[in-house]
Amino acid sequence: MKTYHIITIGCQMNKSDSERIAACLDNIGYKKTEKREQADLVVLTTCGIRQSAEDRVYGLAHKIKKENKNAKVILTGCLSEREDVIKRLKDKVDIWLPINQIINLKQILTDFDFRNTKINPCDYLKIKPKYTSVFSAFVPIGNGCDNFCSYCVVPYARGHEVYRDAEEILNEVKDLVGQGYKEIILIAQNVNSYKSKIRNQESGIKNQEARESNYIDFSHLLRLVNSISGDFWVRFVTSHPKDISDDLILAIAKCEKVCKHIHLPAQAGDNDILASMNRKYKIEHYLELIKKIKKNIKSELPVAITTDIIVGFPGETKEQFGNTVKLFEKVKYDMAYIARYSPRYGTAAEKMKDDVTAHEKRKREEKLMKILKKIALENNQKYLGKVVKVLIEGQNKKGFLFGKTETNKIVKFSGDKDFVGKFVDVKIEKVEEFGLSGVFKKNY
Ligand code: SAH
Ligand code: SF4
Ligand code: F3S
Repeated sequence: MKTYHIITIGCQMNKSDSERIAACLDNIGYKKTEKREQADLVVLTTCGIRQSAEDRVYGLAHKIKKENKNAKVILTGCLSEREDVIKRLKDKVDIWLPINQIINLKQILTDFDFRNTKINPCDYLKIKPKYTSVFSAFVPIGNGCDNFCSYCVVPYARGHEVYRDAEEILNEVKDLVGQGYKEIILIAQNVNSYKSKIRNQESGIKNQEARESNYIDFSHLLRLVNSISGDFWVRFVTSHPKDISDDLILAIAKCEKVCKHIHLPAQAGDNDILASMNRKYKIEHYLELIKKIKKNIKSELPVAITTDIIVGFPGETKEQFGNTVKLFEKVKYDMAYIARYSPRYGTAAEKMKDDVTAHEKRKREEKLMKILKKIALENNQKYLGKVVKVLIEGQNKKGFLFGKTETNKIVKFSGDKDFVGKFVDVKIEKVEEFGLSGVFKKNY
């Protein structure tokens, strides 16, 4: 039996795509192996969001053919259609595979150049994935991005926004919950712009407003997922600040299965930089949203807010960066993913002068990190002495169980390995900036 090995770089979309590729390969009789150097087929699911992600792909592609010259190498993901990458790696890769073509994988493995030009870009999402986890699953609700933020490759790499039918998504979730999954993570580049036509009026979609408009938006979708019976959590990423409606905030507040955590990338705190990034909102709008979120989404613990930030965008002055510092002080984030700007091939910002020095970018990143740590620790103090529900994800090398709260806080405690994949209550006794620890109270 022929074997395959998959290497995934990049975001949740890529992880989910790799799960679908694994399912396709299983279906056509391949067997998964952890031993890359012995595999007949090596799949590289690639990412181009930053230079570092891209460089990993170059390094790996060279290594694979060296250590295993008989392996067929498939390159898919966000670099698979980049002409400069194709030129650079033409001797190291056998099949350049746009992700939506995986439905033709069987044919492509015998005829490397076969492509079906008539397929809908969302069709491959119908493939039932081989989920990596037995308790937490990514469920893509769409693919692509139409926003064209000036620094970002995603719209070029993944194409236009397309969305899956609500019924298809709901069926996948029902199936997962039926199998005992405890966490459903709805993913798309911009979940808030989800839109799906109701195709079958008899399909159980009861929401009056949705039926009248004949469309389901993201808040309706969340309510529909929430109404599936079972004990599970719903998460979603990523939200774009320009598309969050009051109704969505209401849906998150009211749906008991939807985790009280919002990842809302701000990217910068300065209006001129935001305009130059083509983010299409002003910081006043962003802060207004944060106010509404904090006011309306109430549970026992404060709603958690996390973000993505880019420091050192072309032309960002010290004063403009100072506005991002102010943003951090105002919002009081629980977590922030801070990236130093790197110019990306083919984007609008690539043509702007990358004029903030590497040293200055690092200094700005460190400054934000310092504020984040102080604020996140203050936020976590509110957990001291509280009993929180945790979904256990695994056991670390020291034997401690770890998992997350619905507010996405990592919790560590001693307990039975059998709790992995289950909900338990933990009483928090110690807090750090990015983690909590405590003692086991009860299981469900
Ligand atoms: N769709 C999501 C994020 C996708 S990319 C959104 O709209 O927020 C994930 C993060 O990578 C971005 O939020 C951004 O902070 C970072 N990123 C994207 N392009 C970058 C670049 N050229 N340099 C540095 N960071 C970048
Ligand atoms: Fe990239 Fe902007 Fe689209 Fe996010 S919204 S994927 S940052 S272009
Ligand atoms: Fe990377 Fe593509 Fe995701 S560029 S971050 S893998 S959408």
